[in-house]
Amino acid sequence: MPIEELGRGMLHLYSKNTSYILNIDNHGQLIHVYWGGRITPESLTTAVRSAPLLAFSPTPFGGDSQYSLDVLPLECPTFGRSDFRAPMFHLQYADGSSVSEFVFDSYQIRPGKPKLDGLPSLYSESDDEVSTLEIRLLDHAQDVAMTVRYTVYRDFDVMTRSVQWINESSRPISILRALSMTVDLPDADYQMLHLAGAWARETNPVWTPLASQKMVSIESRRGATGHQAQPFLALARPGATRHRGDVYGVNLVYSGSFLAFAEVDQYDRTRVGMGINPFDFSWLLEPNHSFDAPEAVMVFSDQGVNGMSSIFHQIYQQRLMPRSFRDRNRPIVVNTWEASYFDVSHDTVVAMADSAASLGVEILVLDDGWFGRRSNDQSSLGDWYVDRSKFPDGLAATAQKVHDRGLGFGLWIEPEMISPDSDLYRAHPDWCIGVDGRGASLARHQRVLDMSRADVQTFVVETVSRLIRDFSLDYIKWDMNRNMTEIGSRALPAPRQREVAHRYMLGVYHVLTTLREWFPDVWIEGCSGGGGRLDPGMLAFVPLMWTSDNTDAAARLQIQQGTVLIYPLSAVSAHVSDVPNHQTGRSIPMEFRGRAAMSAVLGYELDPRRLSEDQRETLKSQISWYKEIRGLVQFGRHVVLDTPNPEFAYAWLFVDEEGQRAMIFYFQLTAGANRPRRRLRVEGLGAGMSYEWRQVGEREWQPTNADELRNVGVLIPDLKNDYQSVVWELRQRA
Ligand code: DGJ
Repeated sequence: MPIEELGRGMLHLYSKNTSYILNIDNHGQLIHVYWGGRITPESLTTAVRSAPLLAFSPTPFGGDSQYSLDVLPLECPTFGRSDFRAPMFHLQYADGSSVSEFVFDSYQIRPGKPKLDGLPSLYSESDDEVSTLEIRLLDHAQDVAMTVRYTVYRDFDVMTRSVQWINESSRPISILRALSMTVDLPDADYQMLHLAGAWARETNPVWTPLASQKMVSIESRRGATGHQAQPFLALARPGATRHRGDVYGVNLVYSGSFLAFAEVDQYDRTRVGMGINPFDFSWLLEPNHSFDAPEAVMVFSDQGVNGMSSIFHQIYQQRLMPRSFRDRNRPIVVNTWEASYFDVSHDTVVAMADSAASLGVEILVLDDGWFGRRSNDQSSLGDWYVDRSKFPDGLAATAQKVHDRGLGFGLWIEPEMISPDSDLYRAHPDWCIGVDGRGASLARHQRVLDMSRADVQTFVVETVSRLIRDFSLDYIKWDMNRNMTEIGSRALPAPRQREVAHRYMLGVYHVLTTLREWFPDVWIEGCSGGGGRLDPGMLAFVPLMWTSDNTDAAARLQIQQGTVLIYPLSAVSAHVSDVPNHQTGRSIPMEFRGRAAMSAVLGYELDPRRLSEDQRETLKSQISWYKEIRGLVQFGRHVVLDTPNPEFAYAWLFVDEEGQRAMIFYFQLTAGANRPRRRLRVEGLGAGMSYEWRQVGEREWQPTNADELRNVGVLIPDLKNDYQSVVWELRQRA
């Protein structure tokens, strides 16, 4: 069991390369002792001994004048009993008070990993690959229990945490704050990394130094994770690089409003916390009911930022994304959106399918515009019936023609949304999120369906199932194009109005759980105007994410590199689109566009009928080459390399599990004259491995080896012109 009892209330959770140690002290408090590289604890005493002298730090337990929660590293801090730092949770009791004191009651260590109530979480293949520590704490004065769960995996350097509150009293309580985790690290010598962005420019890494008495927080108040931020932060030790050094990463398996923070206290220690955003949240917990906070995934690596990323990739690929797609090659799709926007019809789709089939494309996805009276974005969301003026024989006939051409058929849908100009809205105006008397903000001319309602959930499940069955769908693109405003539900009583945003997410998860059970083999591509809800919560249901609405290849390199800081490449949809690019106006050569997209899940966002004969040939060879390499790209290890010229270049290594096959992609955005010749050092290949290699396009294989590639590096060719790329392929030498 990777959880051991060390005596004196000390518990050690470990994986191959990490240790996490906590202590139940003699006041029944859960003290954090250690998180980091694997150790064999022998002389560890509790952290209590290292606490500073008490000054302005109150002592909650009368007899012990040297004990203050304010100076201790805590596992589950709350407010009101001497700790002044940001709490993990905050409860309000029936008597109006909001001071809690939870003390240790019992713990158990057991194989397996419990599921969370209504929330997605990492799974285990068998009970013996995971161990769970459940610690039950009790607030005796109020009869409320709290169970903190830690799960460690035998084969992954990952720990998950979640919390459940159980009201064992006879009166309701309010949960005002319910974060999933906090951890108190012993100092503040870290740089914090998070991902920031906006629509069409998602996932830019931002580094922030921590400083005394400063709280750095990242949050969403949108009712979705948002394009702007990820429910993620990492802390890196000074000097940590992409490839080496200590990095801690935390990510939340949740798709709604979240809070993530790092707070440095008066003694320069850092509290990291993450969970549902307490802003505009509360939850009424009736007697004998429980509430689960979402799961937090915690990763430590001493192999730098790439080491952390690689652990997230493995665990998400193998224990979060839907099992039925775990090892399935992602298909090459052609999507109608940028090819024809709302102007779709039976004839267009069939002609596109004809042309796409001859190129080797595998699925045609009919995007927006096929339903209701949808000739622009001003109407019809909710009226999921085929527009007969565009598809006179119905969509089943179109789907049949697409299938006849050997392609799968996919359909865009935005099931959580409703247009005020729709029959659905006219029939059920009360089905929207809204607050009476406050007006209703529109975004993209639409409103948000109240997914917290059971009748709305049923409607969405029935609608999507009907479409899948009627049109024999192989693929759905599940879009979501606005965030919540005027948050309220007509179906909930006044004291529960601040539950709406979280209940909305539970509703979405319920719908997706049902659909996944009924249709385990239908691909679902998650989308929210690109990466507006790209997070581990959604990844539990969708094996693909439309990463960004920005299809410009140069912009995409940055967005894809940012996305794979956390998420596996097999989830990152990347489409080659037409030029000039519709978002940036830039015209990038087809080869570069293709290679940028081939470095993730290749697809197309253009009308194949409008290609010249030359372009068709290029696409054909792109597609057939991608079919050969996609196993490596989608399921190999992806290593971001440090280019000597990061201002105009990106470089990535893809290597299979055994290190037998690898590829290096180098992208140059802009050309320069008479630049110094530099070498690209290739980290990530196993030491001592021997290879043959060649640049793609050349015939001869040359000998090389991992040590040479790492220490000497690859000489970067002098590439004339902007938007040039080089790919080297490597195969192991016997
Ligand atoms: C936003 C998506 O990100 C696009 O790819 C496209 O599907 C449009 N919605 C359709 O309205």
